[in-house]
Amino acid sequence: MLLTGTDALTAAARDGRAIPGFVAYNLETVQGIVAAAEASGTPVLLQAGSSAFKHAGREALMGLALHAARRSTARIGVHLDHSRDLTEIAACVDAGYTSVMVDGSHLPFAENIALTREAVRHAHAAGVWVEAELGALAGDEDVSTDATADGGSMTDPAQAAEFVAATGIDALAVAVGNVHGFTARPVRLDLPRLERIRSAVPVPLVLHGASGLPEAELLGAVRRGVAKVNVNAELRRAYLTAVASAVPNATDGADVVATWAAGRDAVAATALRIAGQLASAPEVAGVVEPVPTGGL
Ligand code: 13P
Repeated sequence: MLLTGTDALTAAARDGRAIPGFVAYNLETVQGIVAAAEASGTPVLLQAGSSAFKHAGREALMGLALHAARRSTARIGVHLDHSRDLTEIAACVDAGYTSVMVDGSHLPFAENIALTREAVRHAHAAGVWVEAELGALAGDEDVSTDATADGGSMTDPAQAAEFVAATGIDALAVAVGNVHGFTARPVRLDLPRLERIRSAVPVPLVLHGASGLPEAELLGAVRRGVAKVNVNAELRRAYLTAVASAVPNATDGADVVATWAAGRDAVAATALRIAGQLASAPEVAGVVEPVPTGGL
């Protein structure tokens, strides 16, 4: 069923848990994410947005994601990830998306506020909640670039409070050293900064760039009020690795369905593992292992 509203986010923040925001590109990634939501019994956000729309077509992918979420026995919100385009945001809101992220993080502060307010005005009128970002993450949302946090800019706690008050957003994506995609060296978060943001801001916090993040950092962020965690590159890697190993078996008989199913099942297994990790955030030892670059 569709997960609407922010109650699940607020409850997650209160209980020291986080809801995963899993990025989908096609039928099989949607199916894998839905299967993980059903197996985990936890709420999940299915994020189908801009770059995947270019591949699949906006109407087709929106319809697919919404249909899958509505038909599922799990509670699944359908979320537009990283959009700078008010027309796209309006299209997703009007189609029935349960939340949108308006990304003005590349803009000067006042312009980010203006863009975000406009998205909030349209979304709230339809009962859709809004995530926005302050500070900027390094890295690419669709390809791992081995980014370092130096390429971004950190969220300032006082400015974050002003931003939330001025825009009326429901969740704030923060930049505290997190980067998009896998990195050769382990990422360290500025957890004291995250705590200051948490104290300054009344809405749930969102952490982007969870792929490859050492567990101690990830769960440290969840314990400090991050209620939504975005994951993309880890699902992409699982999908492509499984498809690549299925291809040699498929070529003789040209069994495309078995190949796609392998990708779907790998996404489901990876998403299920991450959903379980985020469902409770116990203290973990601060041992940080190097993270392999996936190149995906
Ligand atoms: P990763 O690719 O690092 O998981 O980041 C995903 C993300 O933040 C999507 O918005």
